[in-house]
Amino acid sequence: MEKFLIYGNTRLSGEVSIGGAKNAALPIIAATLLVKGVTTLNNVPDISDIENLCEILECLGVHIQRTEQHTLVIDATRLKTTHAPLDLTSRFRASYYLLGSLIGRLGKGEVGMPGGCAIGQRPIDQHIKGFEALGCTVDTTHGKIAVKSKKLEAATIYFDVVSVGATINNILAAALVPGTTTLYNVAKEPHVVDVANFLNSVGADIVGAGTDQIIINGVKSLKKNCTYSIVPDQIECGTFMIAAAATHGDVLIKNCIPEHMDSLTAKLIEMGVTVESENDTIHVTCNKRLTPTNITTLPYPGFPTDLQSPMGVLLSIADGTGIITESVWESRFQYVDELNKLGADISVSNSTAVFNGVEKLYGAPIYASDLRAGAALIIAALVATGYSELYNIHYIDRGYERIEEKFKQLGARIERLDEEEEI
Ligand code: EPZ
Repeated sequence: MEKFLIYGNTRLSGEVSIGGAKNAALPIIAATLLVKGVTTLNNVPDISDIENLCEILECLGVHIQRTEQHTLVIDATRLKTTHAPLDLTSRFRASYYLLGSLIGRLGKGEVGMPGGCAIGQRPIDQHIKGFEALGCTVDTTHGKIAVKSKKLEAATIYFDVVSVGATINNILAAALVPGTTTLYNVAKEPHVVDVANFLNSVGADIVGAGTDQIIINGVKSLKKNCTYSIVPDQIECGTFMIAAAATHGDVLIKNCIPEHMDSLTAKLIEMGVTVESENDTIHVTCNKRLTPTNITTLPYPGFPTDLQSPMGVLLSIADGTGIITESVWESRFQYVDELNKLGADISVSNSTAVFNGVEKLYGAPIYASDLRAGAALIIAALVATGYSELYNIHYIDRGYERIEEKFKQLGARIERLDEEEEI
């Protein structure tokens, strides 16, 4: 296991380039199963979640080559099974996207039941609601989800909860089903739109992604030998915007989509940060102690839950009291205990955290509990006086590509060490 050694009192400055979105790349890689041939994906982040999903696809008979650092060539001409290995898929939540693709291509599929995780129970009832509406039977006994159908039929599906995963999974399942499937009360995140854009780029007929209603006109087959580039990562971009603000820095963020960041940009400006957006860049500068704000996490275009913990760092050093209400996940404040170890003054009650801003944080040993909390703790350690050791950084590597290298480019003193290595 590894840890980060991070020196504080850092003021980030310079330029950083944003990679492809993890939460778009994962479902799009699964979606390539719907193509009976080769698909090339560019701007794919080099992170462990992608590695894990590719390992699972190889078990299904798919051939995958990472021909360049951010390019995957995926050949799904022949599948040798519809049963993904339960041990691999049950450990890795996004493997449930394979169900949608396997249903779409072969009318059946089986993956391990995804567990909950640090942030909450993470049910899949809405995924199943859609699959059953499309004519599938779903068996969730014995630690797996086994889906099969005699004949898939177009359907109208009204989700009870706005769910990124359920929205995407049912787009995948319906893409090749004859007739018109309509999804209501859907997620509108940029990564949902990117999945629909990918499928349309290979011949699908999907209308309305990014709105409250998605219409899927099933097509007979998808085009082979196409190339698609993954959308820039909204959450990685937001992580660096907040890091620039927290360290009173001056950072130019490149290869991003400013309008995807609108809810965060509005909050940063409200707190006193200077944010200037132009084409595919965002320039963030801050040279004063910020005033606090209140935040409630919501489905897109609301404030993203995945930026809640980095924002908590900003509120912990603001000049006053700020409040965060986490409305998406039931337990996404584990990072608060770690910030309080650094000298923050935060109290949590159910889904609300109250941040009484302090002037200084002080370095200490801290522990990541999930990938976004881990990224937030890097920001806190960069702000703190003295040095910090951040453990459990494997969580961070799941969703951020060599994050320490990008922070080093901005002037941070951060080293990746073996956990046992003495300072
Ligand atoms: C995706 O998770 C992201 N993961 C999460 O990012 C993100 O936090 C989440 O969307 C919300 O934006 C990926 O895309 C791989 P949901 P997902 O289904 O799809 C409830 C990260 O850090 N729900 O939109 O699992 C659920 O309990 C990760 O990159 C049901 O009730 O999230 C939650 O309260 C962490 N039934 C809400 O919906 C269901 O069948 C939103 O969950 C499904 C979800």
